[in-house]
Amino acid sequence: MKKIQIGLLGLGTVGSGVWKILHERRALLRERAGVDLQIKKILVKHRNKKRTVSVPRRLLTDDISQILNDPEIQIVVEVMGGEGASLRAVLGAIRRGKHLITANKTLLANEGHKIFKEADRRQVSVGFEASVAGGIPIIKSIREGFVGNHIQEVYGIINGTSNYILSQMTERGASFEEVLCEAQQKGYAERNPYKDISGEDAAEKLLLLISLCYGGWFSMKNIYVEGIHRITPFDIQSAGELGFVIKLLAIAKGEDSRVQARVHPVLVPKSHPLADVSGAFNAIFLKGDAIGPAMFYGRGAGMMPTASAVVSDIVDIAKSIDCCEARITPSLHSLAVESVDKSSNEYYFRFTVFDRPGVLGQIANCLGKNRISIASVHQREQVKGGKVPILVVTHKANEKDVQKAIHEIDRLSVVAGKTMMIRMERF
Ligand code: NAP
Ligand code: HSE
Repeated sequence: MKKIQIGLLGLGTVGSGVWKILHERRALLRERAGVDLQIKKILVKHRNKKRTVSVPRRLLTDDISQILNDPEIQIVVEVMGGEGASLRAVLGAIRRGKHLITANKTLLANEGHKIFKEADRRQVSVGFEASVAGGIPIIKSIREGFVGNHIQEVYGIINGTSNYILSQMTERGASFEEVLCEAQQKGYAERNPYKDISGEDAAEKLLLLISLCYGGWFSMKNIYVEGIHRITPFDIQSAGELGFVIKLLAIAKGEDSRVQARVHPVLVPKSHPLADVSGAFNAIFLKGDAIGPAMFYGRGAGMMPTASAVVSDIVDIAKSIDCCEARITPSLHSLAVESVDKSSNEYYFRFTVFDRPGVLGQIANCLGKNRISIASVHQREQVKGGKVPILVVTHKANEKDVQKAIHEIDRLSVVAGKTMMIRMERF
């Protein structure tokens, strides 16, 4: 039986899960995959640190050359995170003809072009199933299961931390700060949780999905990103009363090689399956021209779900070694960008105004001037200092017109705070 030696870079949350599966299920994997997978060396930063898994000490090293310069190691698995050291490590591995697997979406989103180009030159594979939506096999599904489709639209709940925060605010009425703390304690959040709540983490994952769905490379700067930090319990409650749930969605829509990509909070109708994706769970809802709508659901983070995705890549690549199977790297030609300004949506606005006669008229006038038609208006009870929230839901309007109207409204003397705008999706 073919024996494949693996170098593991990192033995933290994900690395420990990879060790557990490969070590505890070696015989099962041999039987199922027809290859014998063995971790030969593990790179760590602190060799003497107490580990959550029991690993023979002789396998641990803090010297990467012991992995890179070992000709027996054919697959390198990067689960150390970060950018500088991990970029040097993965390029070092690829340049020595080793296949690479990584869970590091930040590295791929920012340096993927360089990494995939190098992999192409050296004729090695790069697996990154674990970098998007944890344990959900979305990369393999798009690449293989939907190979005969043109993917038209993708909607992803692909950041577990922000979904956990929004779900807890919805279910318990808890405050943003309180729930962010919980998400950190549960290990969902990134080392820098700003990346989760700002939408940046979801944007990095969206970029990787786009490369597979639309067959080209996108730049992070072409993804419109808005986070969840301005969402209040009041917005969540008001959305609920209107029949919606607020979710942070990563959205890509493509037509004729032009792609529009954005990450922002969205009012999702309660009747849509994405509305039921709660806690740290992830889901991807997409539409292909042959399959129609399809949805994937599962755990988007954590030790074992993420390790499950890494092991799936290990098995695929191990099986392809010495066979004629095609290598797996995305296409790197640049995709054309469709500006978000050109999109049209229905909108939810929360205006914070002084409770005086004529205020609503001024706001309605401004919206009308910018070709925005009102579908409904809801005024809530007065809050402190004579300020009241007014909720307006619009019919479909153009994004550029909406941005202009908000800019104008926020400068009116009757307006007491920055307008909250949330887009609505009907799918
Ligand atoms: P982690 O728990 O912080 O583990 C990182 C591991 O890498 C540790 O074992 C650390 O060594 C080692 N390491 C870090 N920098 C190193 C360096 N310069 N040299 C040598 N070893 C180094 O991280 P993680 O949560 O497993 O995440 C790993 C990657 O997977 C990240 O890119 C993350 O974004 C991605 N990811 C994570 C999850 C998740 O749920 N955690 C899900 C999807 C993707 P020591 O143990 O000795 O300190
Ligand atoms: N911080 C990420 C999340 C981890 O919350 O989804 C998985 O990539």
